[in-house]
Amino acid sequence: MIENLKKELKQINNLVELNQLKTNYLGKKGLISQKMQDMKTLSPEEKKQLGQEINILKKEIESLFLAKENELKEALINEEIIKETKDVTMPSYKFNLGTIHPLNQTIIDLENLYIGLGYEVAEGPEIETDEYCFEKLNLPKGHPARDMQDTFYINPELLLRSQTSPVQVRTMLEKKGKPIKIICPGKTYRRDADDATHSHQFMQCEGLVLGHNITLADLKGALLEMAKKMLGEDRKIRLRPSYFPFTEPSVEVDVSCHKCGGKGCSMCKNTGWIEILGAGMVNHHVLEMCGYDPNEIQGFAFGVGIERITMLKYGIEDIRNFYNNDLRFLKEFKEVK
Ligand code: DAH
Repeated sequence: MIENLKKELKQINNLVELNQLKTNYLGKKGLISQKMQDMKTLSPEEKKQLGQEINILKKEIESLFLAKENELKEALINEEIIKETKDVTMPSYKFNLGTIHPLNQTIIDLENLYIGLGYEVAEGPEIETDEYCFEKLNLPKGHPARDMQDTFYINPELLLRSQTSPVQVRTMLEKKGKPIKIICPGKTYRRDADDATHSHQFMQCEGLVLGHNITLADLKGALLEMAKKMLGEDRKIRLRPSYFPFTEPSVEVDVSCHKCGGKGCSMCKNTGWIEILGAGMVNHHVLEMCGYDPNEIQGFAFGVGIERITMLKYGIEDIRNFYNNDLRFLKEFKEVK
């Protein structure tokens, strides 16, 4: 029987077949059970004798099955190990790391610069009231200077802010007559047709400094720092008289051309100077409307276009590049720190 079993076991390749064979030998109706049945008719001595033999036989059979079972299980595990082997030298997936958007980079640079000069960063909503965006900035309803900014109105009292200047109003109302030193970068909207230099949505950074004995010279110092930091340490600035309803006097600020150093080139239209922002001393009407006593506290404000300085800095000619989200364009700014 054992020799026969050994032969049969050799043919077995999996656990299902093995279990079947096991039932044939050791199951209730298997060969060993049959041998036990046969003992019934024997004498007690013969029973004892044969019983011992059958037990030995059974143990041998069981150990043969156990050995085969272990062999098959081992083979299964080995097979799985081979299948699941990982090549630890395989290179990992290439992650496409994003880059900081050039406009955000400009905002980060401006924030770092002005925080270093003691300013705080303020925020305001993009949906603004007519009162904060215009009226309290000395632009009552029907004022002709409203034409300077074509505005998206939601209803007669609500609009998409056309400038970041309403954050000046909000901050003044909040600080209730106390000194202020803030910048406010953020999104702005105007009903302009998009072209190389206009975008219906763009960004500005507002600045407002109110305190005792603040003069136009302080404004000039704050803006010279900006020109140097953003466009190069050897930049100069000049102030030209201008008009904004919320400042008096108002100035337009030019920076010496960073491309030609002031000699004259295509970038500065041969003038040596490039206009970068509007600014001025905060108009007394604005101060009064926002709860400040102009005899006590006064100061300056400025508003700079984020796209404008970013375009100048990197020589970008079309403002739409910032908003088309073409990865090839954005990736060019990988190295910007
Ligand atoms: N808000 C002006 C604009 O969008 C820019 C500006 C000019 C802001 C003078 C100021 C300022 O704070 O004082 O054209």
